[in-house]
Amino acid sequence: MSARITLPDDAALAEAAERLRGGELVAFPTETVYGLGANALDADAVAKIYAAKGRPATNPIIVHVASVEQAKALVKTWPAIADELAAQHWPGPLTLVLEKADHIPDIVTAGGPTVGIRIPNHPVALELLRQAGVPIAAPSANRSEEVSPTFAIHVQHSLGEFVDDLLILDGGGCRVGIESTVLDVTCDPPRVLRPGMAKLNLPPSPRAAGEAEANVARSPGQMLRHYAPKAPLLILPIEELVQQIQEGDGLLVRRGSLDGKRPEPGEPGRVKVKISFLRHDWDAEHYAKILYWFIRVLDRSGVSRILVEAPPTGPEWDAIWDRLRRAASPAD
Ligand code: TXA
Ligand code: MG
Repeated sequence: MSARITLPDDAALAEAAERLRGGELVAFPTETVYGLGANALDADAVAKIYAAKGRPATNPIIVHVASVEQAKALVKTWPAIADELAAQHWPGPLTLVLEKADHIPDIVTAGGPTVGIRIPNHPVALELLRQAGVPIAAPSANRSEEVSPTFAIHVQHSLGEFVDDLLILDGGGCRVGIESTVLDVTCDPPRVLRPGMAKLNLPPSPRAAGEAEANVARSPGQMLRHYAPKAPLLILPIEELVQQIQEGDGLLVRRGSLDGKRPEPGEPGRVKVKISFLRHDWDAEHYAKILYWFIRVLDRSGVSRILVEAPPTGPEWDAIWDRLRRAASPAD
C-alpha cells in the first residue's frame, strides 16, 4: 500500500483523468476539503470508495460536476430554486440534494431516491472533471469518522494504508476548510441537512423539536460522531478551560485569551501543554479554514485531550459549532 502526492501538472491531470475513466480512485483538492473520487456512473469504482474509507453503506456520496448542464443530466426534476441557487453559489461550497436520475447507480445514493450534487470551486477539481468527462462521486478523502483532509499530506496520512497506489493531486491548502453546506431542495422550503460556509439567504425554516433526529434520517451520513480526533475534545468557555488545564493537554484558544489567566513560567501550578492559537478577532471564515489543520496537528502530537475555547455563536458560526460538537461527541 502506498500513495503518491503530485503537483497537478498536465501529465498528472491526464493520468488522474485516465485512472478515473478506468474505474480507479483519485484524491483531489476542492475548495472545501480534499475528495476521494471515482466515476459516479461506475458502481464498481464507487464501491472502492466505501472500502477505502470504511464507510457505512447507508451513507450516500456527493457527485461533483463541471457544469449545470451536467448536473441536470443526473436528476429527474430540476426545480426553479435549484436554478437560482446554482446561479448564486456554483461553483462553490453548496451541495444540492435532488431527485436522482435512474442511471445513477444505487451505491452512490445509498439506495435512496435523491442525489447530492455540486460544482466545486477549485481549478484542479474543475480541470479534472473536464478531462475525465464523467461526474465524480467524492466524499472527503479520509477514513470514516476522521477529520476531513485540508492538505494533500492529510490524505496520505488517512488513506495511504488503505488504497493501493493512490494518486493524490496536491492543490495546496483548502480555502474554505470545512465540508460543503448540504441543502435538500426536494422539499419546500429547502432544508439544510449539513451546515457549511455557503451564505444562504433562505426563508427561515422553523426549527421544530426533534428536527436534529429527523435530519439524521434524511441525511444518513450525519452520524453524530463524525470528524472526531483520537484525543477527547472539549469545548469550554475560556474561564472554565483555564480551570480544566492538565499536563499533556492540547489547547485551541484565541490569541491573548490566556494572558493573565494561567501561571507564568516558573510559577507553581504551571503545566506543560501544547497550544495552537486562533486569530484574536474571531473571524469565522478564517476559523473554518484552519480548524481541521489545528485538530490534526494537536491530535498527531499525542496530546491527551484537546480543549477548545468556545467560539462565538450566530449564523456564520453554525457550521463551525456543528463540526466542533461532532468532534466532541464521545466514541461509542
Ligand atoms: O465539501 C464537501 O462536501 C466534500 C467535498 C469533497 O466535496 N465532500 C464531503 O463528502 O464532505 P462526505 O461524503 O464526507 O459528506 C457528504 C455528506 C454526508 O453527510 C452525506 O450523508 C450527505 O452529504 N449526502 C450525500 N448525498 C446525500 C443525499 N442524497 N441525501 C442526503 N444527504 C446526502
Ligand atoms: Mg466526510
